[in-house]
Formats: sequence, C-alpha cells, structure tokens
Amino acid sequence: MVLADNFLTIHQQLRCSTHNAHVRLNRHPLLGQLTRPGLDLPTYTHLLTIYLDFYRSIEAVLHDYFAEGIDGFSYGERYKTDWLNQDLCSLGYSPAKHLGRERIFTRPQNTAQLVGMLYPLEGSTLGGQLISRRLQANLGLDAEKGGRFFHGYGADTAWRWTEFLAFAERSVQSPEQVAQACAVALAVFNRLEECLDGQA
Ligand code: HEM
Repeated sequence: MVLADNFLTIHQQLRCSTHNAHVRLNRHPLLGQLTRPGLDLPTYTHLLTIYLDFYRSIEAVLHDYFAEGIDGFSYGERYKTDWLNQDLCSLGYSPAKHLGRERIFTRPQNTAQLVGMLYPLEGSTLGGQLISRRLQANLGLDAEKGGRFFHGYGADTAWRWTEFLAFAERSVQSPEQVAQACAVALAVFNRLEECLDGQA
C-alpha cells in the first residue's frame, strides 16, 4: 500500500514510492548492461524488443485516454513506440515480425492514475540521456542509427520534464489522488521488471 505524506510534493512522493523499484531496474541483469562497455548488439536489440512490447502496450492505453482530450498537457510529441521501431529497423531487425503480447496495461481511471502512468515514462527520459551517451561511446549508436529511443527528447529533456511535473502538481492534490498516482507509478515499474525477468 502507498501512503500519502501531506508535507511532500507529488514529485517527491512519486520518487520516494518508486525509488527501490528504480534501483532494482538499474541493477537488473539485462537492463544493467545498457551502460556497461561490454554491451553487445544482440543484447541491445533484445532489450529493444522487450521495450517495444512494453511501450506498445502502455502507449496504446495512453492514446485512448488522450483521445478524449486532457486540459493542459499533451502526449502528442512524447510517443516513444515509433522510436523503438525506428531503432530496430536501423539495426536490421523487422519489428513488424515481432508479435507483441496482449495488452498488459489497463486504462487509467482518472487524471491521478494518468500522472502515475506517465511518471516512469517521462522520468526515464532523464536517465536516457546518460544511457544515450554510453551507447554512443560503447556501440557507436546515435539518434540516427539505433539510438533514437534513448536519445529521447535530447536538448528538450529538461523543459519537457518540468512541463510534466507542473501538470502533475496541478492534477494530483488530495491524499487519495497522491496514493493513486504513486500506486500506478509503482505498478508500471514492477510491470517492466516482470517483462525483463521473463526474458532474462
Ligand atoms: C539502466 C537503466 C537506467 C539508468 C542507468 C537510469 C538512470 C537514471 C538517472 C541517472 C536518473 C537521474 C537523472 C537526472 O536527474 O538528471 C534517472 C531518473 C529517473 N529514472 Fe532512470 N535509469 C534507468 C532506467 C529507468 C527505467 C527503466 C525507468 C522507468 C521505466 C526509469 C525511471 C526514472 C525516473 C521516473 C526518474 C526520475 C526520478 C525523479 O523523480 O527525479 N529509469 N534515471
């Protein structure tokens, strides 16, 4: 159960609730290799296919939700599934042949749950900047060749993160909303860990 603390901002509460899950992911046998010099292309491509399943599923749910129109925030330029397809294609892998699993996420029931779902996706673009530099150094990949997903928003990363946090602060205020946002954020982290565990 996630308990809301009235003295912390929603950002601080999301970060606290998911800290351990984030540390576990960073140390995951598959994901942990992303930043190491020993990373090879087959392992990287395999990771991208796991991410493709995950993002295809979560972004389908987000697409449905945003189709109804959300005041003050747009996900339009934030979709990442196409970047994964682009990377896999440029590495010679055909994403069209990759049969994804059935939907692993359910639609958020309110804006607080939406914020919880977006937090891991938007926050991971921060760590993505570090990963992107390592991919360039270790495998020679960049935004044009194989590294589009982790390049993410590039120079726009900071302001896009600030924009998301402002939306979160506006949308999640009551203790119940905070608890819902944190529970969904943690569930998303755990879902990715399960996807990786299933493939490790
Ligand atoms: C090897 C994999 C990963 C590494 C090395 C990594 C690294 C980092 C780093 C260095 C930051 C801080 C960046 C900054 O403050 O500028 C960060 C933030 C963050 N990462 Fe990761 N990350 C990884 C995977 C992930 C994954 C898979 C997710 C979720 C799906 C995730 C979610 C987040 C979130 C939400 C934040 C923002 C934390 C906050 O609220 O300040 N990360 N990551």
